[in-house]
Amino acid sequence: SPLAALTVSGRQFERDSYTNITDGIIKRMSRKLHQQKGHPLYLIKERIKSYFYKKYVGRTGNPVFSVYDNQDPIVTTYQNFDSLLVPQNHVSRLKSDSYYLNSQYMLRAHTTAHQTDLISSGLDNFLIIGDVYRRDTVDSTHYPVFHQCDAVRLQTQHELFPEEWGLSVFEKRPDRRTEDKQAEHTVDAVRILSFQLKSTLQDLAKVLFGSDVEYRWVEAYFPFTHPSWELEIKHNGEWLELLGCGIMEHTIVKKAGAGDRIGWAFGLGLERVAMRVYDIPDIRLFWSTDSAFLKQFEVDDPFTPIKYEPVSVYPRCINDISFWIPPEGDFSQNDFFDVVRSVGGDMIEEVSLVDQFVHPQKKLTSHCYRITYRHMERTLTKTEVNEIHEEIGRRATEMLGVTVRN
Ligand code: PHE
Repeated sequence: SPLAALTVSGRQFERDSYTNITDGIIKRMSRKLHQQKGHPLYLIKERIKSYFYKKYVGRTGNPVFSVYDNQDPIVTTYQNFDSLLVPQNHVSRLKSDSYYLNSQYMLRAHTTAHQTDLISSGLDNFLIIGDVYRRDTVDSTHYPVFHQCDAVRLQTQHELFPEEWGLSVFEKRPDRRTEDKQAEHTVDAVRILSFQLKSTLQDLAKVLFGSDVEYRWVEAYFPFTHPSWELEIKHNGEWLELLGCGIMEHTIVKKAGAGDRIGWAFGLGLERVAMRVYDIPDIRLFWSTDSAFLKQFEVDDPFTPIKYEPVSVYPRCINDISFWIPPEGDFSQNDFFDVVRSVGGDMIEEVSLVDQFVHPQKKLTSHCYRITYRHMERTLTKTEVNEIHEEIGRRATEMLGVTVRN
């Protein structure tokens, strides 16, 4: 019954108007692909860890970064948004973009959600790796669950600048915030930190993709860093956004109890990296339990070169569905995508809006979606696809109040 409490990972949550998590998503939470030895996402995680362990070492050669890859994906909206200064009315908070257990709890939309807590616990250098959840379109490069690696590095005045240089990290009195820096920081500190951040990430890109990788830096905006950048790499002739990064907002660092430090941070998508490193053509393959897929990645050394060999390619089947969307109410495309996904599961390759119009007399809006069905492991029959297609129509009618036209 819809009023019964929701149980996720053995914890109970009261439902409210925000609740939109689906059973399919809850099932994905237990997979922990990044912790599965021999999984491509695990191997990419190990490559990144190994790079950081070697790059930043302490007095005795010990790694200074510690790794957190087992944080609970259920977080509060405070952790995911407020602790990172995401404004109250920011679009990313919409119900249509994230999975909510209720108005207080959600599945993290980025691993940055744990940043403040880990700093508060006393850490200065750490990586956070985990599964993240976003309601999104369905296609070969988008899936509602994917994986990220975040990093934070905090440094003191004394660690950055030798005494005799006479340089300081912080302005004596807060200065003006400009395009290039926050009010608290000096130009010198931001210059040295952004150099450290960018060269660390350029070298990481070379370690992951080979030293001839083409990359470029693009200015970006995040509520939790300033200035901010994105690193793009060339892949099949196209620029692909790989990661976001920047100088951490001092307000966040200070509130977490590390006000004597300046920090840089970044967040990077593991699927993006793995798809390019291993030539994996479809993001849904990461969820495959087929041994023909998994056994290609059974190696002890994460740096073993591997190129994915397609197991087999099965034909796709395309079916359109058109409906009137309810005249009042808040129909969102992502609600429909969720219906499609929860009925069709991994048989859905892609859903796209191909046509929409408003009926001049009835003043009703019609949407036509094209659904591409294809299974990664077998050929789908026409009857099987038709049954699912009809069930999607019935479920959309029942749950979203649409009126199917064909
Ligand atoms: N959390 C950001 C994202 O998901 C990435 C990011 C992390 C950017 C840390 C800056 C600093 O896109």
